[in-house]
Amino acid sequence: MWLGRAEETLRARALSLGVLLVLGVFLLPTGLQAQTRSAADVRAEAVERQMTDAERLQLLHGVMPIPQFFPDGAGIPSDIPVTAGFVRGIARLGVPNLVETDASLGVANPMQIRVGDTATALPSGQALAASFNPALLYEAGVVIGSEASAKGFNVLLGGGVNLARDPRNGRNFEYLGEDPWLAGTLAGAAIAGTQSQHVMSTVKHFAVNDQETQRDTLDVHIDEAALRESDLLAFEIAIEKGAPGAVMCAYNLVNGHPACNHPALLTEVLKKDWRYPGFVMSDWGAVDDVYAINAGLDQESGEQLDATVWFDAPLRQAIGQGTVSHGRISDAVRRILRSMYTLELDQHHEAVPVDYQAHAGLTRRAATEGIVLLKNNGVLPLDSALKSVLIVGGHADLGVLSGGGSSQVTPMGAAPTIIPVEVTGGMKYMGRQLYMPSSPLRALQTAMPETHFAYVSGYDVATAVAHAERVDLVIVFATKWQVESRDTGSLSLPEGQDELIHALSQANPRTLVVLETGNPVSMPWLANVQAVVEAWYPGQEGGLAIADILTGVFNPSGRLPITFPLDVGQLPRPSIPGFGLPYKSAVSIDYSEGAFVGYRWYAREDRKPLFPFGYGLSYTQFAMDQLRVQQSTDAHRRPTLSAEVTVSNRGKRTGDVTAQVYVASALTRGTRRLVGYVRLTLTASETRVATLEIDPRLLAQWSPRTHQWHMPAGHYDFVLANSATEPGPSVSLTLPAMHLSP
Ligand code: BGC
Repeated sequence: MWLGRAEETLRARALSLGVLLVLGVFLLPTGLQAQTRSAADVRAEAVERQMTDAERLQLLHGVMPIPQFFPDGAGIPSDIPVTAGFVRGIARLGVPNLVETDASLGVANPMQIRVGDTATALPSGQALAASFNPALLYEAGVVIGSEASAKGFNVLLGGGVNLARDPRNGRNFEYLGEDPWLAGTLAGAAIAGTQSQHVMSTVKHFAVNDQETQRDTLDVHIDEAALRESDLLAFEIAIEKGAPGAVMCAYNLVNGHPACNHPALLTEVLKKDWRYPGFVMSDWGAVDDVYAINAGLDQESGEQLDATVWFDAPLRQAIGQGTVSHGRISDAVRRILRSMYTLELDQHHEAVPVDYQAHAGLTRRAATEGIVLLKNNGVLPLDSALKSVLIVGGHADLGVLSGGGSSQVTPMGAAPTIIPVEVTGGMKYMGRQLYMPSSPLRALQTAMPETHFAYVSGYDVATAVAHAERVDLVIVFATKWQVESRDTGSLSLPEGQDELIHALSQANPRTLVVLETGNPVSMPWLANVQAVVEAWYPGQEGGLAIADILTGVFNPSGRLPITFPLDVGQLPRPSIPGFGLPYKSAVSIDYSEGAFVGYRWYAREDRKPLFPFGYGLSYTQFAMDQLRVQQSTDAHRRPTLSAEVTVSNRGKRTGDVTAQVYVASALTRGTRRLVGYVRLTLTASETRVATLEIDPRLLAQWSPRTHQWHMPAGHYDFVLANSATEPGPSVSLTLPAMHLSP
């Protein structure tokens, strides 16, 4: 266990407080403020008191209501949709059922299990993160929450905020990149948006579920300080900003203990240090023991996937034997009720009619804001006078690719194209590549009526080359599918696409590449192509969004939320521990890079990646003019930090720019760390000034000894830049020491 025993912690706290008073350093509280008892708390307590023991236990576990598992219905009410989760409420006390659906990219319907039920399919999490736009994530959360509510769900299993420690992780496409501040702020905004619709959201998967390989058995080793400063910080910020009703604990082990049976994580950090008032639900099939309840788990989800339904008969028995206290049961029940009442799940909310057209509009804008222009030798935006363009590959005649697994949305519009593929391991049944019905070919043809477009699949390289030689310009759509439960072993594009791009670029010097990927990919052909556009998985309006960018209707403004390495040799672990071993092999992983995740790792190791975090080009020219960093004091006379950035558009088009502020200090070993960002829209020649608050935890390190954030006195260099590596105006400050309680 990486946290010390309780009395050691208490002693350390008392000691540090004394020392601080003597030294006169600043002591700041962070995180959630001490919770005052809300009306929801009072109600939760009153209702819980009226429950029988059987009713209490009923709220502590739920099924995955899928008919294959329950051919006889198992008493699941017939109006409950086939979905991820169902927890039966207590009608006599007006306690509602919890009807749970995935997830962060729209109301999921994986494998089209609810026949004919479509929903707005947003771009992938990475695409949303590339917008660097919390307001957009909030709107996305509203879209999903309102549709979930209209479909009869009141819990969204959203809020995926695991950090992209490995660019081969099969679920990175669901998450929000490699930086804790970016991921945490964006996840918090999405959660708040969803919950504004009276739909409870989770934040997940707590914690360090950062690879899919052997996810059920993987033991993650990481020291406490590094964990607090990276993955846990992303959760902490997301919880502060979004106040999710539930936290979903993860499949993996953390330092030897299953994440769903982990007192240090669930009780010490989450419930005590962060004063989290909601409840912890397990991931599906992640509970290994009844005593997980004593570790801090409140609710067992997808119970039929566990070895037994731990929170039913075994829990009753444990209570009878006195090994689980009545107090703990009441606490778990009250936490669940509190989240229900805070979000008014038990009230009748007038059904708001869903404006699917407006949601489609938002989806198109979201995809457009997230598309990243990686290279442009001047071929983009496309010249409307082009006579002939050849589109190759990626099924661009049909649609755009999406990621697979529990988050898979069945999109609105025409029927999607589904290509069966083999997936081994725990989610064999998820082997279906789904192309959203928004064809880039058609969108481009509509946007450029004077140009003749032709399409070839690219499976026959010779045919594609023969066509390429005869046209003005070639656009290759290159795809790489990712699916929950499976990482990819390499960064290469699959199915000979690298060779295809190479051959086409030789055949026609005006060749450009549009990527639809759920992760960074290597680009051995980069020098030979004229432009590269990363469109991620752009969602149900993806074809239109890609056309908006390629034709210049919208100035490219996405920024990479994840570093694109040159090759796997640059990663902390060139091969993924456990990759290729039989399913559920016991494997451990040492996150020796600690809090130096992503761009921080490449900088520390002096490795120059292909494209850095924060990077992205545009069709106009922005200048980062000026940075000022101010120290001031807040209403309680505590020191605070804020940055004022001045940015101008020196080009001829309106466009969005993301100003990024990084810090370098002794703690970062002189390398940069993101402390703030802001996305601004600037018309041609416009200059804007914006102010960012800097969270002091981003300048600090966690001390397990004093159980506090500690910012040493010393020099702090701030820089305003376009990416994690580009130069920009900087400011050097000498700051006093600060200590921050959790
Ligand atoms: C995933 C969760 C998901 C749950 C329910 C699990 O396999 O890890 O993210 O919410 O299934 O579908």
